[in-house]
Amino acid sequence: ILDRGYSGQLAMGEPLHRHCSLRVGGAAGLFAVPESTGDLRVLMESLGRDAIPWILIGGGTNVVFSNGGYSGCVVRLGEEFSRVRREEETLVTAGAAAALPRLVTFAGREGLAGLECLAGIPGSVGGAVRMNAGTREGEIGDVVEQVQIFDGREPQWIPGQEMGFSYRRTILPEDRVILAVRLRLRAETGEAVRSRVAQQMERRRTSQPTGVASAGCWFRNPEGDSAGRLIDAAGMKGVRCGGAQVSPVHANFLVNTGGATAADFLALAGKVKETVHERFGISLEEEVRIIHG
Ligand code: EPU
Repeated sequence: ILDRGYSGQLAMGEPLHRHCSLRVGGAAGLFAVPESTGDLRVLMESLGRDAIPWILIGGGTNVVFSNGGYSGCVVRLGEEFSRVRREEETLVTAGAAAALPRLVTFAGREGLAGLECLAGIPGSVGGAVRMNAGTREGEIGDVVEQVQIFDGREPQWIPGQEMGFSYRRTILPEDRVILAVRLRLRAETGEAVRSRVAQQMERRRTSQPTGVASAGCWFRNPEGDSAGRLIDAAGMKGVRCGGAQVSPVHANFLVNTGGATAADFLALAGKVKETVHERFGISLEEEVRIIHG
């Protein structure tokens, strides 16, 4: 399938539940882990020539793969894309494949403020940027100065403003790959930064489920309200479909109690939407990305 010059991993029939924090999903036709922009170029050219569709995943913490898996190629950036370094006094460059928690810890150690609002959010830096991950305290888009994008030809740095950051969204086309990001932070004492990180972690620990497989919040918050509050008020905490359950801790988390399939989650999400719509006339929309095909 691949042209010469590709040196990353390529597997057939990779089980996708290994790459998804919900631990569900069938197999991928192809699963590729490129380790350089050269690899990515060869991969994208080869897949394009054979008309094989592809999708890129980050940490797999906000995706649901269906029971049927994905017939095209699932791409996940390799270790070579995970470097994090301080370039200047307040500028940090992070590879897209770096784990977001590692970046938050790095900033705490270096005494750089601006990422504390992201403490406790799993996933990769690239995924966080594409989805504008955040909390009520702030979003990653607030500190993104530049993003390195790959369109199949040459990597290119674009200003953060061109990403069109809004609530859990950007306007970056699906076929563009985020390779790295430059973050503009603020110098402070490490102690102050780390103490805010600890506070944020504590808040999450008490209001959200931990130690159980989930994809974070399942639904986007509707304008001016909270999906978790609505699902709770509709009496759905603890409701199950197979192994999938509305978390008894936070109702916008659908959790895998063990042995759930993607179909269980989709059925449960459908039931939640229907019930919330009946009770409150509000149509919830998914925040997680459901991948079919
Ligand atoms: N609430 C309930 N029952 C529940 C959950 C929440 O009554 O089961 C109430 C809370 O008591 C509170 C209100 O709903 O009055 C809001 O709840 P919370 O503070 O937990 O915030 P949220 O709106 O549910 C959002 C983000 C989270 C983020 C938190 C904290 C979305 C969809 N969710 O949740 O992000 O961690 O704020 O800033 O925007 C995620 O994106 O995956 C995510 C978890």
